[in-house]
Amino acid sequence: MADRNTPRYTVPSLTPQQGAKVAAILQERLNSLTDLHLTLKHVHWNVVGPHFIAVHEMLDPQVDAVRAMTDAIAERIATLGTSPVGTPGALVAARTWDDYSLRRASAIEHLGALDEVYEGVITAHRKAAKDTESLDDVTNDLLIGHLHELELFHWFVRAHLESAGGELSTAGATTEKGAAQKAAAGARATSTRSAGAKAAPKTAPKTASKAPAKTAAARTSSAKTTTARKKK
Ligand SMILES: [Fe+2]
Repeated sequence: MADRNTPRYTVPSLTPQQGAKVAAILQERLNSLTDLHLTLKHVHWNVVGPHFIAVHEMLDPQVDAVRAMTDAIAERIATLGTSPVGTPGALVAARTWDDYSLRRASAIEHLGALDEVYEGVITAHRKAAKDTESLDDVTNDLLIGHLHELELFHWFVRAHLESAGGELSTAGATTEKGAAQKAAAGARATSTRSAGAKAAPKTAPKTASKAPAKTAAARTSSAKTTTARKKK
C-alpha cells in the first residue's frame, strides 16, 4: 500500500518514491529557510548601537532573497506531487534547532550570532544539494543556486568580523551567544588597537628625540600589550 506521503504522480523520469524522497529533503530546507528569513527580520528589528543603520539596511535584501528561496522550494515540492507544509506550528514541531537566542543587542553581537546561523543553514543546504545530486538534477540545481546567494550573504556578515589579517573573531564559537561574545571582544580589541595607533604619533617624536632607549622600551611594552589582547 502506498505511503500517504508518496505522491500519485511526480515529475517525469522519477518514481513516486523518489519524488517523495526529494520532497522530504526539500521540506526540511523549507523549514530551515522560513526560520532564517524570520530570524533575519528579527535581527533587523532588534539591532542597536553604532552601525545600526548599516546592519538594519543590509538585512532586508537578505530577508527578501531568502523568502523567495522558500517560495521556489515550496513550489518544487508541489511540482514533485506532494504538499508543502508552511504553517508555523508544523515548522516548530519539525525543526531540530532552537530559536535564535539574542534579543536587543549591538550590531557586532548580532553579526557574530548570524555567522553561526549561516554556518548551520549552509552546511545543511550543501548536504541537501549532495543528497539530491544523483536523484534529481533540477532540485540539485535549485539548491546550488540558493547556495550562491546564501554563501555571499554569509560573507557579508563575516566581513564585519574579519581582521585585516583575515582572521574571524568568531573562530571556534559553537553557539550564537558564544559567537556574539567573541565578536564583541574582537571589536573592542580592534578599537583599542586603533586608538593606540592614533595616540602613538603624538608621543613618538618626543621619545625619539630625547632617548632612543625609551623608544625601544615603548616598542617592547606595546608588543606585550598586543600579546595580552590576543589571549582574550
Ligand atoms: Fe524594516
